[in-house]
Amino acid sequence: MKKNCIILIIILTLNGCQTKTNTSNKTIDSINTKVDSLLNIMTLDEKIGQMNQYNGFWDVTGPSPKGGDAKYKYDNLKKGLVGSMLNIRGVKDITAVQKIAVEQTRLGIPLIIGNDVIHGYKTLSPIPLAEAASWDLKEIENSARIAALEASAAGTNWTFAPMVDISRDARWGRVMEGAGEDPFLGSLIAAARVRGFQGDDLSKHNTIAATAKHFAGYGFSESGRDYNTVDVSKNTLYNIILPPFKATVDAGVRTFMNGFNELDGIPVTGSSFLQRDILKSQWGFDGFVISDWGSISEMIAHGYARDGKHATELAIKAGSDMDMESHLYIKKIKDLIESQKLDIKLIDDAVSRILRVKFELGLFDDPFKYLDSNREKEVIYHPDNQKGVLEMAKKSIVLLKNENQLLPLKRENQTIALIGALANDNNSPLGNWRTNSDNNTAVTVLEGMKSYQENKVIYSKGADVNLNDNGVVKFHERVKINNNDKSGFNAARNVARDADVVIMVLGEDGFQSGEGRSRTKIDLPGVQQELLEEIFKVNKNIVLVLMNGRPLNINWADKNIPSIVEAWQLGTQTGNAIAQVLYGDYNPSGKLPMSFPRNVGQIPIYYNYKNTGRPGPKNEVFWSHYNDELNSPLYPFGYGLSYTTFEYTNIKINNKIIKKDKSINVSVDLKNTGIYKGKEVVQLYIKDRFGSVTRPVRELKGFEIVELNPGETKTVNFEISESLLRFYSANEIWESEPGFFDIYIGTNSNATLSVSFELVK
Ligand code: NOJ
Repeated sequence: MKKNCIILIIILTLNGCQTKTNTSNKTIDSINTKVDSLLNIMTLDEKIGQMNQYNGFWDVTGPSPKGGDAKYKYDNLKKGLVGSMLNIRGVKDITAVQKIAVEQTRLGIPLIIGNDVIHGYKTLSPIPLAEAASWDLKEIENSARIAALEASAAGTNWTFAPMVDISRDARWGRVMEGAGEDPFLGSLIAAARVRGFQGDDLSKHNTIAATAKHFAGYGFSESGRDYNTVDVSKNTLYNIILPPFKATVDAGVRTFMNGFNELDGIPVTGSSFLQRDILKSQWGFDGFVISDWGSISEMIAHGYARDGKHATELAIKAGSDMDMESHLYIKKIKDLIESQKLDIKLIDDAVSRILRVKFELGLFDDPFKYLDSNREKEVIYHPDNQKGVLEMAKKSIVLLKNENQLLPLKRENQTIALIGALANDNNSPLGNWRTNSDNNTAVTVLEGMKSYQENKVIYSKGADVNLNDNGVVKFHERVKINNNDKSGFNAARNVARDADVVIMVLGEDGFQSGEGRSRTKIDLPGVQQELLEEIFKVNKNIVLVLMNGRPLNINWADKNIPSIVEAWQLGTQTGNAIAQVLYGDYNPSGKLPMSFPRNVGQIPIYYNYKNTGRPGPKNEVFWSHYNDELNSPLYPFGYGLSYTTFEYTNIKINNKIIKKDKSINVSVDLKNTGIYKGKEVVQLYIKDRFGSVTRPVRELKGFEIVELNPGETKTVNFEISESLLRFYSANEIWESEPGFFDIYIGTNSNATLSVSFELVK
């Protein structure tokens, strides 16, 4: 028996090795004992190795690399100087690297394998922003579960998701990865995603560790430009940015990722305030923190670290436990310890955290537990997964406008003109951040529409989506520069002219949002707006289906086009989901998780803004407003229609006074006043009239999805507890303050049905 196996067996037999996300004290003790025992026999080099993560580097199942960076990484792996790898995928390749770690190193400590499993592994669910539009926490949890099933079957045991960055800026390309603008909805979704990835037992072979990222403030980059400076107040940090992160800790998330941005003058990778004081101390987080890609060395460019050694010292002192691709920890820590710049206790703490998660995943019991090629074949693209993502996709669609009852589509003798490059695209609907998936695997809208055979569908492209409307950015996946070709307009016009209904699928290419994809214009790219207006001249019966990764400027469409459907990028089952919604087999129920601005000049725009000292009166010059545009968004947060209609009446409160640690009940009657069965997301907002720091005009504090038959009424109840009223106050703690509060219940963030109460202490 090899020496490494003997050492590990001694450690593992100290106690049983089963671990759980809802870990009992006994299990925690047992894992901690094993972590300590292992730590005791590790050399400093081996400890540093655990803190080192490399990107996939050579043809892992081919011959060993002969030189350069690949050889250097490979040699380090064999020496036990690598704790984790990312971007190695699939059972075959991961088995190859895991074998080196387990069989060729002195201690045989298994690697933890991380990948960006953001909205699915191979079977793709909608982009996260779209999923957030469902407000359906169970479905979102299930979608993350499907992602975990496939990823774990293909050898990945750790995902760099969920991204829980709140953002109010549609210019920022990464809004597609988050849950939108609201901390309350964002927190619930963040927790649901963690539950979905991690399940109730992390040691199972089909659950994976989740990562809350990017800690913190990344979604507030100035002017929506990716990686840009972040400068927010404590008030915004605590009340808006941090709550979803805290929610993931409460849900048992096992890892955190810091980020590329600075916050209040300190790059977050070097922020001990965030990572040590808040995360590890105040919140008691005992998992580990991974840096973002190269973010430790980027502290030099930020002007915060003198050189690589200094950056390493700052990052470790700040609580960044693992180095993703800066290659600094592996090179600099030893020297820093030997010159007493770093205390070995900091290294031991970081390594313990990393080992703990590896133990919890059960990697020490069986390092090859995720590496079963039969399971990989069986689980990837399983029909159940297809079914699951189809459900998620339908629920993510938001009906923005439906005049003239164009929708749902009639089912007989209709000629439907289907126009737009995106309608016949099987790649764009997959969205960005799908590094593990296969290209061109989405059901197109054309295919989805053709599966309903009662009507005749005639397709015409009209125009391409222009990826590159300013000529600056080269998209590495597909490069189409300034494709403003209008030669397809005529054919599209001809098809549209005689159709009963025209469906136009317009929006962004799948890679037009995501990391490094910020835009200053958020209009329909290229000549698509022109195409829309041209088609409108020959047929006004247009259903505009938007496919996009961020809120877009669709002012003209809102004024002119009778029906508008926000379909985002819905993943593998896109075409089927859209067709089922257009035909009314699923009555749309989504609600916007981000406000849609009237134009880019309104950004940042969000519903929970502050009143200012000059909210009115209107029609005068000196109040807080624009001279050339309304203050309000085109579509507010929480907005979304159904094919049926709902009426809210009879708001009631059972007590006008709340006392500390007590709660009251508010109810409202919801009636389906239309002719279709439908679902409504009943939303409850609270306004705190005044506080020791200024308070938002209203904040989402509850919602419930209610399904009603035509004519049916249901009373919907909400419990309001004192704890729901807490915020980060002038005392720099979370507390509620006595005073008057207004409740608003309704169909979106403009809800008007209102009742008030007082909090007394
Ligand atoms: C950089 C991104 O910011 C982060 O979210 C991602 O997980 C890493 N790259 C790894 O791909």
